[in-house]
Amino acid sequence: MRAPELAIEADADAAGLRAALLVDEAIRTSPGVVLALPTGSTPIPMYAALVRLHRERGTDWSQVTTFNLDEYAGIGPDHPESYALFMRGHLFNHVNLPPERRHIPDGLAADPAAECGHYEALIEQSGGIDMAVLGVGLNGHIGFNEPGPALTGRTHLAELAPETWRRNFPDLAAAWDAAEHAVAPFRRAYTMGIGTILQARRLLLVATGATKREIIQAALHGPITTGNPASLLQLHQDVTVILDHGAAG
Ligand code: GLP
Repeated sequence: MRAPELAIEADADAAGLRAALLVDEAIRTSPGVVLALPTGSTPIPMYAALVRLHRERGTDWSQVTTFNLDEYAGIGPDHPESYALFMRGHLFNHVNLPPERRHIPDGLAADPAAECGHYEALIEQSGGIDMAVLGVGLNGHIGFNEPGPALTGRTHLAELAPETWRRNFPDLAAAWDAAEHAVAPFRRAYTMGIGTILQARRLLLVATGATKREIIQAALHGPITTGNPASLLQLHQDVTVILDHGAAG
């Protein structure tokens, strides 16, 4: 086990730029690089910087392959809450990454188990993930691998933790509070498993803002436990952690 490389930047924009420079460098060094990509608010500055680098330096995405970490089940790629739409808006529409090289689980798949197997097979066929860029949830979730007594290794359909659901859909929280969570929308999502993620050759964890301070501290220095999925990153040999002052404390 090797200690993670730690970079601390002034703010979220600077952390995003630092992450983008590492991704951009990976593409330049290895044009056919296979990336795993996150969504959420944290990576937005990184995507903005990647688009800038593509425009200003001409970084060529034509041979890159991407796999998103997760996607909500039950909604299609044009749904406003879909990660597919998020990715088009923040990155895919602005770089020359061919549509057939972008992969996101199909939220509308008729057979979830087949969809998960298919996603794993695609990752394998592409030669495996070279660099996985990760965010972290306030409860330590990575992708949608939520804390619990056990974790799932491979891509699977996961149930969101109530706190994750409330945070991601504050406007719908009443439905959950009314104990209607069994029928609440967006309560399930496809996610790469923790094993899929740990198999990436290199991990880049980005966390910004003071709300992430505690979970980052626990993930980096606490015990390795399924109660904090981010702590499993301690098992990986090549992790770079990019924080801003808020998250670093
Ligand atoms: C979301 C995503 C995660 C993301 C995390 C943090 O629910 N499924 O992949 O890393 O929560 O989100 P944010 O960056 O908005 O704090």
